[in-house]
Amino acid sequence: MLIRKPSSIRSSEITPRGVYLNRRQLLSGAAALGAFSGLARPALAKFDGLAKSKYSTTEPETPYQVVTSYNNYYEFGTAKDQPAKYAGTLRTRPWTVSVEGEVAKPRVFDIDEILKLAPLEERIYRHRCVEGWSIVVPWVGYSLSEILKRVEPTSEAKFVAFQSLYDRKQMPQGVYAGIQLPYVEGLRMDEAMNPLALLCVGLYGDVLPNQDGAPVRMVLPWKYGFKSIKSIVKIRLVKKQPPSTWNIENSHEYGFYSNVNPSVDHPRWSQATERRLGDFFKRPTQMFNGYGNEVAQMYAGMDLRKYF
Ligand code: MTE
Repeated sequence: MLIRKPSSIRSSEITPRGVYLNRRQLLSGAAALGAFSGLARPALAKFDGLAKSKYSTTEPETPYQVVTSYNNYYEFGTAKDQPAKYAGTLRTRPWTVSVEGEVAKPRVFDIDEILKLAPLEERIYRHRCVEGWSIVVPWVGYSLSEILKRVEPTSEAKFVAFQSLYDRKQMPQGVYAGIQLPYVEGLRMDEAMNPLALLCVGLYGDVLPNQDGAPVRMVLPWKYGFKSIKSIVKIRLVKKQPPSTWNIENSHEYGFYSNVNPSVDHPRWSQATERRLGDFFKRPTQMFNGYGNEVAQMYAGMDLRKYF
């Protein structure tokens, strides 16, 4: 075995990203409880001095290690551990996002321009997956409205359609996904303009790991996780409700709105409770995932059993 002198080892090689634990956590014994405890923020994070968002929860954050190794990203495999294994082939530079459709000033934004378009902030959101698990993540980004207002939506823009990258060369597992790709999603215009709708470029103070949707994704904390589309290449403002991936696959099980709603069961399981990853006991799921004050008004008068 080749033993190198400490001075010849780059600091980035010393500890793999995601297993950095600060000394206090180690000393407090939190690390001894395994991957599900401790904060384990990455050192050498790219973004520093991030503004704290008023929309953040104070609930304990799910460790970086868990957020980045238990993923849904079908383009890189359908098992939870596969995206972390295979998403290394995703090239996140150069990267552009076209914002187009019913807008006065359609534009193609370079990812480096997106990073500087508006002040980035840290938003600690609860994130509830339709499968019954949840996490709390310190995301980095700004409201989607920041980019939308720059292209000047016309009065014809009623919905926003999103599209992920699909490149078979970079995503060879995509052919086994069992869903139509590219992944697509949609929001109503008022949902897209709601300040909670986050255009996300990072987590835990660093850029997004590929498996979490690098270089830019949506995070919609009041909706089931599958609405939070990853690795976005196109945002199109449109007149009519756009297609969305899981609704295309099974409209009986997955509606367009997909607001977190403990009183509307998934046809095959209850949505009344959830397991926060790392917890032993389940907890009750909250209406709109606890974000009712910010979003309930958008659905006033709608039958949420019909528009699930
Ligand atoms: N976006 C794309 N392009 N492909 C996907 O498979 N999975 C969705 C969503 N966005 C998915 C996607 C689902 S089902 C969930 S729960 C969340 O991403 C998971 O995000 P996370 O892995 O960062 O927790």
